[in-house]
Amino acid sequence: MRRFVSLAALLLCGTVVMVAGQAQPPAPAAPQAPAPAGGPPADWLPPTPKNLKLLPKDTDPKQLMEIMRGFNAAMGVRCVYCHVAGPDPNDMSAYNFESDRKEHKEATRAMMKYTDAVNQAFPKEVGEAPKPGESYVTCYTCHQGQRHPPVKAKAPATPGAPAAPPRP
Ligand code: HEC
Ligand code: HEC
Repeated sequence: MRRFVSLAALLLCGTVVMVAGQAQPPAPAAPQAPAPAGGPPADWLPPTPKNLKLLPKDTDPKQLMEIMRGFNAAMGVRCVYCHVAGPDPNDMSAYNFESDRKEHKEATRAMMKYTDAVNQAFPKEVGEAPKPGESYVTCYTCHQGQRHPPVKAKAPATPGAPAAPPRP
């Protein structure tokens, strides 16, 4: 597999917006959606991951949590949106995080690849493509803290700006 994962580190989390041509590291203070209320306590860490298919297998629980909290914030959701919980979604010990049973988890893997592809395809006429581990386009670029990206084309006004697909 290609080095998808380098990007994983932070780009996925979502908020980095870099200006083409500026060779700066992602700004840590990039605007970020507030994480939705609830979710695990700040110091909570998951068990060692067993079923990573895109992120590096050796991603440690702390790095993983940065990425997962990034997903929460980019989409305005909580862990239970993508992961199988027990009867109480606040009970972190009852989750089965490695399970792939939730369709949103698989959708997210597809979206991770899509986001990577968008970054790889950055037009050279505009500037240099993001380096491994960096990204211009992140989950937050489109989702802006919402499950469904808020801005969509209403009609195919111009070629190359097709109407959005119907919502699932
Ligand atoms: C938008 C979807 C999404 C949200 C929200 C999300 N996750 Fe994940 N999570 C994933 C995906 C996708 C993977 C697998 C990544 C891969 O295959 O490399 C994953 C993997 C994991 C794993 C590794 C499981 C294993 O054993 O392989 C843990 C632990 C985890 N997430 C915890 C959390 C926690 C805790 C939260 C809430 C703070 C959370 N996730 C929120 C999509 C999500
Ligand atoms: C280029 C824009 C764009 C980027 C980048 C993007 N998404 Fe999406 N995403 C969409 C669109 C458009 C949809 C489908 C329309 C809708 O759900 O309203 C969607 C749908 C989804 C869905 C399914 C939503 C549902 O409830 O059915 C998930 C999950 C998702 N995105 C996660 C992510 C994650 C995680 C990332 C970052 C790794 C990401 N997306 C990056 C545009 C984007």
